[in-house]
Amino acid sequence: MTESVPLDSTSTAAWKQLAGIAEHFEPDLRGWFDADASRASTYTFQAADLTVDLSKSLLTEEILTLLLQLARDADVAGRYQAMIEGEHINVTEDRAVLHTALRRPKDGGGLVPPSEFVVDGEDIDAQVHATLEKVYTFADKVRSGEWVGVTGKRIETVVNIGIGGSDLGPVMVYEALKPYVQAGIQCRFVSNIDPSDIYEKTADLDPETTLFIVASKTFGTLETLTNARLARQWLWERLGASGAIADSEDDRTNAVAKHFVAVSTALDKVAAFGIDPQNAFGFWDWVGGRYSVDSAIGTSVVIAIGPDNWREFLAGFHAIDEHMRSTPLERNVPVLMGLLNVWYTNFLGAQSHAVLPYAQYLHRFPAYLQQLTMESNGKSVRWDGSPVTSDTGEIFWGEPGTNGQHAFYQLIHQGTRLIPADFIAVASPAHPLKDNSGDGHAVKPGQDVHDLFMANFFAQTKALAFGKTADEVRAEGTAESVVPARVFAGNKPTTSILAPALTPGVVGQLIALYEHIVFTEGTIWGIDSFDQWGVELGKQLALQVTPAVAGDPDALASQDSSTKSLIAKYLALRGA
Ligand code: F6P
Repeated sequence: MTESVPLDSTSTAAWKQLAGIAEHFEPDLRGWFDADASRASTYTFQAADLTVDLSKSLLTEEILTLLLQLARDADVAGRYQAMIEGEHINVTEDRAVLHTALRRPKDGGGLVPPSEFVVDGEDIDAQVHATLEKVYTFADKVRSGEWVGVTGKRIETVVNIGIGGSDLGPVMVYEALKPYVQAGIQCRFVSNIDPSDIYEKTADLDPETTLFIVASKTFGTLETLTNARLARQWLWERLGASGAIADSEDDRTNAVAKHFVAVSTALDKVAAFGIDPQNAFGFWDWVGGRYSVDSAIGTSVVIAIGPDNWREFLAGFHAIDEHMRSTPLERNVPVLMGLLNVWYTNFLGAQSHAVLPYAQYLHRFPAYLQQLTMESNGKSVRWDGSPVTSDTGEIFWGEPGTNGQHAFYQLIHQGTRLIPADFIAVASPAHPLKDNSGDGHAVKPGQDVHDLFMANFFAQTKALAFGKTADEVRAEGTAESVVPARVFAGNKPTTSILAPALTPGVVGQLIALYEHIVFTEGTIWGIDSFDQWGVELGKQLALQVTPAVAGDPDALASQDSSTKSLIAKYLALRGA
C-alpha cells in the first residue's frame, strides 16, 4: 500500500547527508577515473538491450549509497508495485495508473495470471488485448488494401489528428521507426489549432486515399475537435469538387465512415461527431495521455509499421517494466537515473536536462520527453495537497547530435550552468552508408559514416567529463591571452545510453526507461506524476476570451487592461 501522506524526503538522514556533501562538493572526474580503473565497469549497467554508462556522472560510492537510501526511504519499489497492481496512485483524479498493463503479454508477463488482474471490477488484460486485436485487424485491412476509401481506392496517407499525448507519442515513434514503414503508406500528424498546420499537412493530399484518425482521450480537446471538423470539411469539399460524392447527407455520412476513425475513451462523443463506433478504438481513464503511445493512440503507427513490429515495440516496454520491477535498486537503471536527476536538481542546482539522441530518427524524442517529464513532474504540491519541500521537475530539452554540437553545446561545455545530459546512440545504423572517397577527415576509404557519427558521440562525453586544463591548452602553443577562453573545466555530467539498433523493441525500451525515471523522481518528491491540472486554467480562459476576440464588446470589456488592449490591437490589425 502507498502512504496517503508522502514521506518528506528532505527530512530524512540521507537527504541531510547529501546536502552536507553538496555544500563542499568538488567533482573530479579525472581524479576519480585515475584512482579507480574499474569506475567504468562499476557504473555501467544493462537494462534489456540498453547499455547505460553512468560513470561520467558526478557520482561517488558515498553519494550513490545515500541516493539509494533515499529511494528505500521513499519506497520507490513498493510504490511501483502498487502502481502496476492498480492502486489509485493518481490520487487527485482517484485513478489507477496502468500504462504498464498496455504492454503486458497475454500470459500476464510473469506478474499475475491474466484472469486475476481485475482492477476496479474490470478485467484489464482482457480489455487491453481485445482492443489490440481490433487495432491489428484494422491496421492489416488498411495495409493490405482491403480497407478502401469512398471511391474504392486504397489508403495511402494516414493523418493523425491529436495533441499532447495524442500526438507527440505517435509522431515520435513514427519518425523513430521510419525504416519499418510499409512502402506506399505515409503518416502525417496534425496537432496545432493554428490552421496553417492542417492546411500544410493536407494541401497536397488526395482525399480519396486519405484516412483521418481523430485521437483524443477525452474527445473534448479544442484543438483536436476543431482540426477534426476542418478535416471533415476538407474531405467533403474535395470529394464534392471532383464529383466523387454528391451533395447529399448520405454521401457525406458514407465519406466520413470510410475516411475517419477515432481513438478515445469517450465513444459516445465519437458517435456524436459522426464516426461509426465500429470504427473507434477505445482506451481507458487509467492511462494518462502522455503514457498512452502504446495504447490504441498509436493506431497510425500500427498501420505504418504493422502489427508484428508493434508487438516487438510493446515487448520492449515490457522488458523495461520487468527490469524496473525485479532488479535490485543498486542495478535498477531507471531508479539510478531518476536518483541521479534528483542529485543534480535538488543538491547541485541543475535547472535543466539535455537529451541528445545520436540517431536522427529520434529527432522528436526530446519533444516527446518534454511532455512526459514536465507535465508529469512540474508540480508544486504533493499528492496529499501539501506544498512540496524541494524543487521538482526538470526542464527537458535537446536536439539530435551532431546538430546540437554546432548550436548549443558551447553553453554545456563552457557556460556557467550545470546541465546533465543523456547521450543516446545505436551501434548499427539503418543505412550503413560508406564514404569511399578516402579524402574525408579521419574516415578510411570504405569506412562506415556511422563510425564517424559515433566518434562524435564518444568525443563529446569525453570532452564534457575531462575537459582541458590551462596547461594542456598552453602546451598546444596557444597565446597566453586566449588560454582562459580555451580551457574546458570538465566535470560536466553525462549518461551514455547505447543500444544495438533502433528497432521497435529498443524504441519501446527507451520510452519505458524515461517513464520510470519520471516515476522515481516523482516518488522522491512525493508528487502525483499522473495528473495535469496545470494545463486547465489556460484552456478555460481561452474559451472565455474567444467571444472577446470575436468582437463581443461585453466580453472585451470584462478582460484585464493588458489583455483588453492586446485584443483591441489584434482586432485593429485584422481591420475589424
Ligand atoms: O492539455 C493537456 C492534455 O490533457 C494532455 O495531458 C493530453 O495528452 C492532451 O491534453 C490531449 O488530450 P486528449 O487526448 O484528451 O485530446
